[in-house]
Amino acid sequence: MKHIVLLNPKGGCGKTTIATHLAVYASTMGLRVALADHDKQQSSHDWLKSRPRRCADIAAIAAYDGVSLEGEFDVMIHDMPGAAVSTAHSIASVCDKLIIPITPSPIDIKAALRLWVTLSNNGWLDNTSMNIGVIANRVKANTKYLKTFDSFLTRTGLPRIATLRDTQNYIKSLDAGLTLFDLPPGRVANDLAQWQPIMEWTGLFDLEDEELLSMMGLEDDVQPSDDKFVSLESMNYEQQQEEDAMDEYSGELG
Ligand SMILES: Nc1ncnc2c1ncn2[C@@H]1O[C@H](COP(=O)(O)OP(=O)(O)OP(=O)(O)O)[C@@H](O)[C@H]1O
Ligand SMILES: [Mg+2]
Repeated sequence: MKHIVLLNPKGGCGKTTIATHLAVYASTMGLRVALADHDKQQSSHDWLKSRPRRCADIAAIAAYDGVSLEGEFDVMIHDMPGAAVSTAHSIASVCDKLIIPITPSPIDIKAALRLWVTLSNNGWLDNTSMNIGVIANRVKANTKYLKTFDSFLTRTGLPRIATLRDTQNYIKSLDAGLTLFDLPPGRVANDLAQWQPIMEWTGLFDLEDEELLSMMGLEDDVQPSDDKFVSLESMNYEQQQEEDAMDEYSGELG
């Protein structure tokens, strides 16, 4: 079983959002998936309970209650709490892929630097069987802090595996017990494209598989976004259009 862990003591950086998305994606790929919620706030579990019945099956593991991390699964996604890293030591030994979501703001970058020092002091960075990658999350158009963020990456040597923009699509879909992967791909194609490198890095996605690409609406003409955002005005316009479509879809869901 592969273990993918979402870790960053900084609250609100996107651990639950990314954990739920990975769980749905892996499940729709036909993998047996467990979502282990280590956070006493139980956000992942609340989201799982709110999921429409027709959606892909994901097993819930109440790790916050000490439930054991066992079972016949292909992949287990761990949603860690916004708390001290010491709470995560027990899973360091099983972790294959450690994902650190970071919002590129000065305060979050400083906290991430502390996290990196803690991981280093505790030997996480020496564990050669674990890959560590960073996701820049909630990235706003033309943000000036990406340079600071990139300096952080250079200093720590951590790779940025993806950049996810700041969009209400995440907030609205999670509120409906869904993720972007549960929506018609055409409605959120730009955002899905930003997930492509994450799937590649986690090994959940085969970039050579053209059938998968077209299933996700990720044909050749939609490339993963990089940091060279279009102008703020056109991005806002595009975003507004997508959010209107999302509102319409949420309305259809009731
Ligand atoms: N890319 C994004 N764009 C817009 N909103 C986002 C994005 N990612 C996450 N959010 C929103 O930010 C808030 C915090 O995200 P989330 O709950 O995933 O963070 P977390 O790291 O799990 O927080 P905690 O440490 O409190 O558990 C949520 O309301 C979520 O919907
Ligand atoms: Mg959370």
